[in-house]
Amino acid sequence: MTKNPTEFSLTLDGKTVNFTPGETLYEVAQRHQKDIPTLCYDPRLESFGGCRLCVVRLEGAKNPVASCTTRAEAGMVVHTSTPDIETHRKTLLEMVLSENRELEVSPLRGYASQELTELSERYQARTGRFEGKQSGESRIDDTNPFILRDYDLCISCYRCVRVCAEEEGDYAISVMNRGFETQITTEFGGLLKDSDCTFCGQCVQTCPTGALADKKAMRYSETPGEIIKTRSICTYCGVGCSVDIMTKGEQIVGLQPAMDGPANEGALCIKGQFAYDFVQHEDRLTTPLVRGDDGELHEATWEEALDKAADGFKRVMRIHGRHAVYGVASGRTPIEGDYMMQRFIRAGFGTNYIDNCSRA
Ligand code: SF4
Ligand code: SF4
Ligand code: FES
Repeated sequence: MTKNPTEFSLTLDGKTVNFTPGETLYEVAQRHQKDIPTLCYDPRLESFGGCRLCVVRLEGAKNPVASCTTRAEAGMVVHTSTPDIETHRKTLLEMVLSENRELEVSPLRGYASQELTELSERYQARTGRFEGKQSGESRIDDTNPFILRDYDLCISCYRCVRVCAEEEGDYAISVMNRGFETQITTEFGGLLKDSDCTFCGQCVQTCPTGALADKKAMRYSETPGEIIKTRSICTYCGVGCSVDIMTKGEQIVGLQPAMDGPANEGALCIKGQFAYDFVQHEDRLTTPLVRGDDGELHEATWEEALDKAADGFKRVMRIHGRHAVYGVASGRTPIEGDYMMQRFIRAGFGTNYIDNCSRA
């Protein structure tokens, strides 16, 4: 049912809808399930208005306006999808696609890596329609083990630069030059390892073309099998970032941040993003090891290992007293594990010397 206009309402595709002061037209449209295409938009970042793909028709405005940067105002009359707007979007897309060298990129490159490909299919947009110069020069000389810098695929949406600054506060990458000379770069055009980059992978995950890509995951691009995503929690620290673990069969082939993770909203640090090899590493311990009289570690049963540990604790208590025992719980354990740890130290040894590795 069409509502009556209020001081915070506008007309969206013929219907009166309310908005919250400060909302953009794109945000209002999204709340009403309008499928407006975007390329330079990342909901976590300040709107940029670079790609103009999100244009809408605003009655009274001379030209289509970018919905992601235009604030909603009372009385606006907005059309999100008209034949001329769709033609406008398709032409813009074909200009972008003429710049891009490759559309078929592995989804293992990054969370958003399929965005341009999907838009080109949606609009049946032609590649190579606008012949001419192309921008972006890949940095294959950057041999860091985590991030591929394949700027041949860069469309200058600046999402990587903005996420690095706004989400991470790193400012490790920036934009150099303008027009066809535009280049995403570090300061002085160096390698990522020599910059302020912390290898959190945020630039990789927001890149809509796969120009920035997860090198570790790409090792499995040719591995047969469907990619299955399983929601989980990073096990490294108490922040508890939500992640999607990607597998092909029994093999972990990559890890992506959960954009709807309540603790991280798509952010991860280097450990959560890239340090998952331990799970299937051949050196991972699968049985307890106990040091024998020969000074070497030997495989043991859990009973043998726990008896050995208990003997050690008892000996320390006997010689040095109960306050010689100090427990440090791991930030990687669940809360039940932490509870048991403090019971073990407080009730078991009679000391309050217990802390957590996040503080210790
Ligand atoms: S590298 Fe990716 S995210 Fe960065 S500007 Fe280019 S296309 Fe955008
Ligand atoms: S990704 Fe980093 S910050 Fe997040 S839980 Fe893992 S270790 Fe902690
Ligand atoms: S998504 Fe609005 S201008 Fe790019």
